[in-house]
Amino acid sequence: MRAPSIGHGVFTLICLLAMTEPTWAPSSWRSLPAGQQPEWPDAEALAAVRERLGALPPLVFAGEARGLLAALGEVCEGRAFVLQAGDCVESFRDVTAAAIREKLKVLLQMSAVLTYGATLPVVKVGRIAGQFAKPRSEPTEVVQGVELPSFRGHVVHSDEPTAHARIPDPERLVQGYYHAASTLNLLRAFTKGGFADLTLVHTWNREFVASSPAGQRYEALADEIGRALRFMQAIGIDLEHERSLHEVNVWTSHEGLLLDYEEALTRQDSLTGQWYDCSAHMLWIGERTRDPAGAHVEFFSGVHNPLGVKLGPSATPEDVATLAERLNPGRVPGRLTLIARMGAERVRDALPPLLEAVRRTEVPVVWVCDPMHANLVRAPSGTKTRHFDAIMAELHGFFAAHREVGTWPGGVHIEFTGEDVTECLGGSEAVLEEQLDRRYETLCDPRLNGRQSLDLAFRVAELMRAV
Ligand code: PEP
Ligand code: CO
Repeated sequence: MRAPSIGHGVFTLICLLAMTEPTWAPSSWRSLPAGQQPEWPDAEALAAVRERLGALPPLVFAGEARGLLAALGEVCEGRAFVLQAGDCVESFRDVTAAAIREKLKVLLQMSAVLTYGATLPVVKVGRIAGQFAKPRSEPTEVVQGVELPSFRGHVVHSDEPTAHARIPDPERLVQGYYHAASTLNLLRAFTKGGFADLTLVHTWNREFVASSPAGQRYEALADEIGRALRFMQAIGIDLEHERSLHEVNVWTSHEGLLLDYEEALTRQDSLTGQWYDCSAHMLWIGERTRDPAGAHVEFFSGVHNPLGVKLGPSATPEDVATLAERLNPGRVPGRLTLIARMGAERVRDALPPLLEAVRRTEVPVVWVCDPMHANLVRAPSGTKTRHFDAIMAELHGFFAAHREVGTWPGGVHIEFTGEDVTECLGGSEAVLEEQLDRRYETLCDPRLNGRQSLDLAFRVAELMRAV
């Protein structure tokens, strides 16, 4: 009898792998059910748009995505904290210098408070430069008494309350690309060109914020930072040439919802041969599309960007363990961020079993708290709102759950705007129910205003100090 040759064995193994390992490609999600995709009326027009997007330059580079991966790796090891924040849905109308600047100011203020308060590096990730699409629980909504297809973001259709305006238009995917590009361009200019210089820490405080208790507390903190800088200079440290004082990294992220768009912006890195979704540094999978057998998980399993996954109260320990294995099989620290949005009432019970289940998989993850999305309520007037106290209660529960299990509470994920809006209730200079109509401007979920965001940052810094 002839002994089987080694060559034959290797050949068999390769055949077996080829049969059992479906190869990933940017389009392999197409054979699976994709939730929350718009009903594009014209498949040919969509295909043509996909082709145009595919020929346009990437918005971010693979090397940058690896930079964020490394920064999140530090969070994963408990040596840093992440602040992921921005609009619920960006409006095409708000792609203006003023709106982007005001958002950036609040983000810089919040991160100064967290960095100084907790003496830890803060990884700053904006829900910005591409957060144009929304998943919706209901296919229709009632606007001014008329039932219309639900608003899914400006990258899909107009927010005008007419049935015609709500027809998905693939041309808007191209517009979304250009709006993301100009937002990102300004963001890069602001963060690298002097605006984010730490010596300007005072100037990020806007008048309507500065007059509030949180704003005054911020002024005192900015004074302390200024004094610390002058002290370092006095003892001979060369501040002029210390880049980290003059520039910051603000990374971009959005929900990776529209797979036609994400696929078209997915490119192979020439250095490593790996695929990256070059529409943003980080992408997250939403609560409604995180089915491990669905198209979104398939698509994102193959790109090498840092990923997030939202986890609502219905997520089971098994679901979460499956997602962790599926999305981070290489066990790379920083690759996967799990964003828990359990609700103030549920977080204390629902979160610890998930923390434990993921720990058992030995897949490294960053745990982040989104205290916004499961705390939505309706005011007596019917307006959708969130109460600052419920948001804080969920954050307290998140930190307590991590304390109980012995895991690292890695960060927060919030929806805010730089403007003086009245969309969320409460805060130390409280927005009251009867004031909600005064400046309720969101296109989707209610956002914290500049004051409430700063207030939240001070309170989170306190929670972090106690870890
Ligand atoms: C969102 O982050 O805007 C969102 C829709 O969240 P979730 O998927 O957690 O509901
Ligand atoms: Co939202």
